[in-house]
Amino acid sequence: MSRLQPAFGLITAALLGATLAPAAAGASESPAPEHSLRINTSGETTSIPETMHGVFYEDINDAADGGLYAEKVRNRSFEYDEVDNPSYTPMTAWEPTSTGGASGTTEVLDDSERLNENNRRYLRLELNGDGRRDSAYGVTNAGYHSGMALKRGEKYDFSIWARSDQPGGTPLSVTATDGSGSPVGRTMRLQVRGDEWTEYTGTFVAHSDTDTGGLRVLAHGSGTVRMDMVSLFPRETFKGEPNGLRKDLASKIEALDPGFLRFPGGCLVNTGSHESYQAPDWERRRSYQWKDTVGPVEQRPTNANFWGYNQSYGLGFYEYFRFAENIGAMPLPVVPALVTGCGEDKATHDPQLLQRHIQDTLDLIQFANGSVDTEWGAKRAAMGHPEPFGLTHLAVGNEENLPEDFYEHFEKFRDAIEQRYPGITVVANSGPDDSGATFDRAWELAREQNAEMVDEHYYNNPQWFLENTERYDSYDRSGPKVSLTEFASEGNRFENALAEAAYMTGLERNADVVRMSSYAPLLAHEDSPQWTPDMIWFDNDESWGSTSYEAQKLFANNVGDEVVPSELARSDEKNGVKPVYQVVTRDDRTGELIVKVVNARDDAARVRLNIEGADEVAPAAELTTLHGDPDAVNTKGSQPIRPEHSTVQGVSQQFEHTFPAHSISFMRIKTPGDRPRTDS
Ligand code: AHR
Repeated sequence: MSRLQPAFGLITAALLGATLAPAAAGASESPAPEHSLRINTSGETTSIPETMHGVFYEDINDAADGGLYAEKVRNRSFEYDEVDNPSYTPMTAWEPTSTGGASGTTEVLDDSERLNENNRRYLRLELNGDGRRDSAYGVTNAGYHSGMALKRGEKYDFSIWARSDQPGGTPLSVTATDGSGSPVGRTMRLQVRGDEWTEYTGTFVAHSDTDTGGLRVLAHGSGTVRMDMVSLFPRETFKGEPNGLRKDLASKIEALDPGFLRFPGGCLVNTGSHESYQAPDWERRRSYQWKDTVGPVEQRPTNANFWGYNQSYGLGFYEYFRFAENIGAMPLPVVPALVTGCGEDKATHDPQLLQRHIQDTLDLIQFANGSVDTEWGAKRAAMGHPEPFGLTHLAVGNEENLPEDFYEHFEKFRDAIEQRYPGITVVANSGPDDSGATFDRAWELAREQNAEMVDEHYYNNPQWFLENTERYDSYDRSGPKVSLTEFASEGNRFENALAEAAYMTGLERNADVVRMSSYAPLLAHEDSPQWTPDMIWFDNDESWGSTSYEAQKLFANNVGDEVVPSELARSDEKNGVKPVYQVVTRDDRTGELIVKVVNARDDAARVRLNIEGADEVAPAAELTTLHGDPDAVNTKGSQPIRPEHSTVQGVSQQFEHTFPAHSISFMRIKTPGDRPRTDS
């Protein structure tokens, strides 16, 4: 995986307000530094895994449909239901529409005329038109939230499955409109022929901008026309993938240079019924079962999402694997353990059902890694990816509150996987908290079962993070490793980013134990957050990173390959807050030391840095800093917390630097004696 180097400008730190202490010669004129940071470059180092900083993606806060998934049509297959959300009907987001005095009726049906057994409902239009070109009846889709965002000059691909009972067929006129109903592109004219379900497609280029747009689908003449899977996609998706992702959001995630992508949740993975969609007694609210989400999109069933809406599954496991591959992240899928969490807290001990889920998990590994001659490898190839995805890690379960039940199931999954696919790391978990009886018992069972890795999750106030940066110093080095794939301090102010950054210095220092970490949740539509804080916010056409996003991005892009021992002399705490929090790593590719310092206090911290064991230190170091008002919040209109780049002069084996109050700093110091690695 590539590690991106930030582009450094030549603005000096002095211009940016940071105080630069004079290099050794002039130091006698300044007051003595308050702190001394010893960096031992010849000390024993700890290697940092490439998975150290990653992302946890969950379909929460409308992250998928109406978010990362670029589809513009909401409720495209008329499957919305009050089980998803009490306010839903099969016609949610659709309005009957007529032009030129045409009339007709609309009805959503779930009967034997359906598109297929998974995509059960469809729209039937009864038309009473006279066939004139300007007279037609049909429906308009309002898109997600405030409407569809369409951009002038961009190409859009329309598709629909339809059938007509008219011998000569039924003409359709399809028009994208702005908020007032005026066209924003040419009307696409299609002819539905025959009473068999067939897919029809069209394309247009928007000639004006709108962010309150809709899509009008009108049928001409008389008779019956049936419609399903009405879709509108921008041609320009992330990396040009078909059925792809919204470019701005996917690019913001890519900019985090994530070491892994955990998906698809979260609570939505393990809550609800564990029956299959095909089972006679299936319930509409089912746990996320990956097989529902692959194959042609029109053959995927939809499902109620734990967070109170419908999930179309257009963004499914194939698309997640592709996304992980496209951003150079290790895929980390999560499967249900048949023990629900997130307040449902119920274990399903049905041996047959459990066996089916274990088999589904083995099939998932085959889907990801199997050759094209295997059943599931062939399905992956049929979707366009004959090469394996290289799955190495997989999590069973999420935050189960019933450790005995969970570990009983976990062992069965893990043993079956180990037997068939010995190279796969199966990740267990310790429930929803940082401590307590469930946490302790889960860890005890994880150790007893020799689990390779335990996933921890916790959300706490900023002070907790500042006071617990040494949490992992005392973890057993010979026990299971930790993946901390859900953490955040409660809030989206810069104060929160400071606390998280301080905490991350402790995660990196303990990279031998903590092998993965990710902030959560990743995405939130500003109109429908079910959970705050979140890392990246968006509306229908714009997105912006929170202060935590900026901190996460800097950590992941400056992670380094090994931790170099460092120590702050006199670490007197004020109200539980240390003078500064630090970790020093080395980038083996460039031979640079990366000194990461978080000052969460109200006063600047003047620090003398002693670089021991380095024969030579380059006099100029690149510095990237986030600093500002701890109350600052990055919003759509204003992002006060952004990285500032500068060059620190006068760097030597011993030099002073002042880290501003409320700042997160990444200083890259060249030590020319340490030869850069040449193997990549
Ligand atoms: O990140 C939001 C939720 O927090 C996740 O769904 C769950 O795993 C945790 O409780």
